[in-house]
Amino acid sequence: MPAGIYGSSWYNVQEVPSNYAFPEEDRPGQLPPVCHTLPIIDFGKAIDADLVNQIIKASQEYGFFQVINHGVSDDIIRDTADIFKEFFELPVKTSRNSRGRSNWAYASSTSFNRDGIHLWRENIKHPCHPLKECMQQWPENPARYREVVSTYLTEVRKFGNTILNLICKGIGLEVGYFDRFSEIGLLNVNSYPPCPDPSLTLGILRHHDPSLITILYQGNVPGLQVMKDEKWIAVGAMPNAFVVNIGNQLEIFSNGLLKSAEHRAVTNSSEARLSIAALISPSPDCIVEPAQALVTELNPARYKPTMYKEFVHCSRAFGDDTEAMQRA
Ligand code: OGA
Ligand code: NI
Repeated sequence: MPAGIYGSSWYNVQEVPSNYAFPEEDRPGQLPPVCHTLPIIDFGKAIDADLVNQIIKASQEYGFFQVINHGVSDDIIRDTADIFKEFFELPVKTSRNSRGRSNWAYASSTSFNRDGIHLWRENIKHPCHPLKECMQQWPENPARYREVVSTYLTEVRKFGNTILNLICKGIGLEVGYFDRFSEIGLLNVNSYPPCPDPSLTLGILRHHDPSLITILYQGNVPGLQVMKDEKWIAVGAMPNAFVVNIGNQLEIFSNGLLKSAEHRAVTNSSEARLSIAALISPSPDCIVEPAQALVTELNPARYKPTMYKEFVHCSRAFGDDTEAMQRA
């Protein structure tokens, strides 16, 4: 690949190289305008029945919503975003730690290869539970990575519990239903450099998240698209908001009441974009099945029980086309 005029990185090119241009049918083409009806839920107001209703309605209609005033401090978020930016700027991202093992994987843009075509992104992912043990195997560089990212995840976990419990209230499950067997299973962080022609490239392929819920921070650069009524809609970017989406495991527990929407990430031509996705998932030995309280004679179970570890952990998001959800 030519080095381009701006520097030697793979993305410093004036035209999209052919091995990054998706076939016509998968290309995003003209990007849709930001969707203004995607709910923005304000946690700065009273946490009451109205808020619960907003969450449930959004989770049924879109499978997605944004939350502002969520309680995770701006400083922690900024610190975390800065650490990941620093990580992606490192010239070498080796996952070999000086001492002991490592549990993280870095993917360059060419790590993903479908019929010779690559995604316009770099990625790091690693497990996060149990946090104290897991974090010993995270990157050693940047030096503050472990401290900053574990602080972020502890806060995001609290916020995630609040959301899960409000969802429990809203769909008729006891509060705390997910407490015993949910955890931040995976942290998936994406770096999307500016792209000379976003109509040709993709940051992440269309996929469902293999989680209960995912809490995504995308800063102030848009790029997330959600499938709604067979059309892609663009999620607006709000600084410091979290985008929350229902993963396919919660669709199963809710017996189809809540929707796990398909989504993807596109690129943009002017700004680098960072997204931090924390996947709150069932623990590996958890049997994922419709909650008893939501199964009746009139509304029988729509999904078969599966042990979570047998479920495809890394589904389409990570370049694997396996269809994981088993319908009954
Ligand atoms: C993900 C994801 C979307 C984004 O990491 O699972 O859907 O906007 N990310 O980066
Ligand atoms: Ni996703």
